Amino acid sequence: MSHVMNTYARQPVAFVRGEGVWLWDEAGKKYLDALAGIAVNTLGYGHPKLKKALIARVESGVLHTSNLWRIPDQEAAADRIAEITGLDEVFFCNSGLEANEAAIKIARKYGHERGVAEPAIIVMEKAFHGRSLATLSATGSRKVQAGFEPLVSGFVRVPLNDLEAVRQVAEHNKNVVAVFVEPIQGEGGINVSRLDYLRGLKEICERKEWLFMSDEVQCGLGRTGKWFVYQHAGFQPDVVPLAKGLASGVPVGACVVGGRARGIFKPGNHGSTFGGNPLAMTGVVATIDTIKEEGLLANAAKVGQVIRDGLKAELGAAPKEIRGMGLMIGMELRQSCGELVRQALEAGLVINVTADNVVRLLPPLVMSEAEGRMVVERLAPLVRAFLARSSEATAAAR
Ligand SMILES: Cc1ncc(COP(=O)(O)O)c(C=O)c1O
Repeated sequence: MSHVMNTYARQPVAFVRGEGVWLWDEAGKKYLDALAGIAVNTLGYGHPKLKKALIARVESGVLHTSNLWRIPDQEAAADRIAEITGLDEVFFCNSGLEANEAAIKIARKYGHERGVAEPAIIVMEKAFHGRSLATLSATGSRKVQAGFEPLVSGFVRVPLNDLEAVRQVAEHNKNVVAVFVEPIQGEGGINVSRLDYLRGLKEICERKEWLFMSDEVQCGLGRTGKWFVYQHAGFQPDVVPLAKGLASGVPVGACVVGGRARGIFKPGNHGSTFGGNPLAMTGVVATIDTIKEEGLLANAAKVGQVIRDGLKAELGAAPKEIRGMGLMIGMELRQSCGELVRQALEAGLVINVTADNVVRLLPPLVMSEAEGRMVVERLAPLVRAFLARSSEATAAAR
């Protein structure tokens, strides 16, 4: 019996080697990876630039010093993040939920500074923000929350892409100080915010002097063809939590602020022992520099299009919808389809199913067009066979 706590329903496969977008299991079987460790392995596996930088970091002997001292790599990473986000200050932590926890604290402190004693944050149905008490309370999924009540208070929930719902809250709730939106919901099923909706939200935030907080933990960092989803909409948020793909597999999170959120956190307001340590920061710098040097934003847009077009050409109207941006792709079926994950593994393809009936693809940004076509070649027949089996089963049940 394994002593690892039983918190995940794991597939019985262990990947032990990787190169580019390819993985090998313990038996030497080769898989095409269209998931990137859930949007983490931005540069795929064994990228020479990341490897070289991390080896040099290990050889320096200094993996960690603590935030009692200056950390030059942290300053370099923050400069790069400020440049690509267009924002001003970066707090480093170690995960997505920590980045979101920082965002929630910033919103509350912002509220208190404006004389709001019980600040509230607007959050979205079906959003996922993490599993700490505050972030699971912000998450729009009862499954994530159940059993952990009492929830943290101060969240007001509305449906995504419904501006009128936000206007109603704005009119009636004087405690609101921020809107917190995951502009493409990942865990929730690749639900894409309309760009005019995001702009409308931003307008309300401007009018009401609320913070606009964009959880780009999963959708950010180049995956959609721009560095961040808000850049597609053409405005600057006040708070942007990041994690996952930020250091291509080295654990890291960051809460990036500008605009109204600048200067809210002061010495003593927040902290993290590991946050911003030299090892993680080396990963951040190498990842951002490589995305730039190798034109991976344009690549994500192009290869994402290849995959979406390919799936549409192969499967026609059989799926309920194929949606997404760049290399963040969801294919919604009309029935639960979790079994596709195992079938894909058997066919040498790594995918995920989320929200019960949405096949989710989040490939490394280094995937080539040819590899994108291979994802389609491997996935489409599986989906076709799955749909044929489930329509036979439905017919038999009639
Ligand atoms: C949008 C979003 N926010 C936050 C998180 C939480 O990140 P972590 O698992 O690193 O705490 C996730 C993880 O899936 C996420 O997708």
